[in-house]
Amino acid sequence: MATKVLGVCGSMRVESYSGGAVRLALEAAREQGAETRLLNLREIKLPTYNPDEKAPEHEGLKMATDGVIWADAFLLASPDYHGSMSGAMKNFLDFYWEEFAGKLFGYVCASHEKGLTVMEQMRTSVRQCYGWSLPYGVSVYGEKDFNSSGEIVNAHVERRLRMLARDLVVYGSLIRSQFQADLADGAAETFAARYRA
Ligand SMILES: Cc1cc2nc3c(=O)[nH]c(=O)nc-3n(C[C@H](O)[C@H](O)[C@H](O)COP(=O)(O)O)c2cc1C
Repeated sequence: MATKVLGVCGSMRVESYSGGAVRLALEAAREQGAETRLLNLREIKLPTYNPDEKAPEHEGLKMATDGVIWADAFLLASPDYHGSMSGAMKNFLDFYWEEFAGKLFGYVCASHEKGLTVMEQMRTSVRQCYGWSLPYGVSVYGEKDFNSSGEIVNAHVERRLRMLARDLVVYGSLIRSQFQADLADGAAETFAARYRA
């Protein structure tokens, strides 16, 4: 079965570099046999998460939740804002918890530095929800790595995005299928036991 990869773009900019990078990586994931979807947080305009109101009637939130449940693996792409992920990305992550368990995440950051603290924060949020993370991420420096038409012109960055996509598809499938087998196997002592219905 094809690995289902959900890309999430956490930039509010129309010509976002995070968006350009995640779109290229999703295309590469499709070349690896994956099915993909993209959640553009600029378009779906999630409400601010409020624990008192967990599932408000909201078209964008329904689309996000549907995608999160559908996905085997995630590609989170955020701009670097003050060394942190964007508020939009953090707000998206706040809506979910158990939905992330046993799924693999890859990270992209649009930054003028290397975006390491940004990706580290996304990784921390995901780990807190028992999601798995690829051990590396890809950062793009928009003004240098893209041309004025929004295409990536840095071959090294493009190679890394393709590698990220490949690894997400291959390891994402392995981790997801093992997690599902562990869920189904009532006897196994694994962290999946916590998530059995
Ligand atoms: C509020 C704000 C804070 C930013 N903080 C940083 C920063 O700490 N480090 C950095 O390298 N770039 C910083 N930037 C630059 C953005 O990360 C950069 O423009 C990035 O390409 C934006 O991503 P996007 O094109 O996907 O929106 C900041 C930009 C904004 C608007």
